[in-house]
Amino acid sequence: MLERKKGFIKKIKNKMDAERFKHTAGVVESAIKLAEDKAVCVNKVEKAAFLHDIAKNKTLEEMQKLIIESEWKVDKLEMSIPAVLHAPAGAVIAEKEFGVNDKEILSAIRYHTLGHPDMCLTALIIFAADFIEPHRNFPCVEKIREIIFEDFTRGIIEICSSMVQHQLETAKIIHPNTVMLRNRFLLY
Ligand SMILES: [Fe+2]
Ligand SMILES: [Fe+2]
Repeated sequence: MLERKKGFIKKIKNKMDAERFKHTAGVVESAIKLAEDKAVCVNKVEKAAFLHDIAKNKTLEEMQKLIIESEWKVDKLEMSIPAVLHAPAGAVIAEKEFGVNDKEILSAIRYHTLGHPDMCLTALIIFAADFIEPHRNFPCVEKIREIIFEDFTRGIIEICSSMVQHQLETAKIIHPNTVMLRNRFLLY
């Protein structure tokens, strides 16, 4: 392994607990498989996957501060859902502390929790990999793992549907970005 890559992974490992790094490594594994399947740049996808949860250990106040001081636009609804704020905050950290300036990598980190109708293929791969990585074990995950490799469009629809359904069942906010992403693929 190249020294630079080793240093990059070590820096990420130092910023998260063992459980989070295990999940991150799972996302990297699934993202690489999807990138190979879709003929997308593996290096780009791997970097985005390693960085996608980089802000997860931050407090709500720290995440809000990072976002407010950045140029990323985060709507009021997102600001009211602490569990999703680590995504835009992660894009800020990737840019500031890891020197990432690739728009597709930054956008993949930024939108990995809720999705977004304008996501590029790299971002869609991170969104899907985060959902299906090998350590996830919720009821529909096995079915979605199969679908996403058979039919990527259907896989993304299934992921969005599952997210919306979970929010309905737990009486939580459904962010329109997830619904619009689902609509984009339904109309595809
Ligand atoms: Fe995340
Ligand atoms: Fe994640």
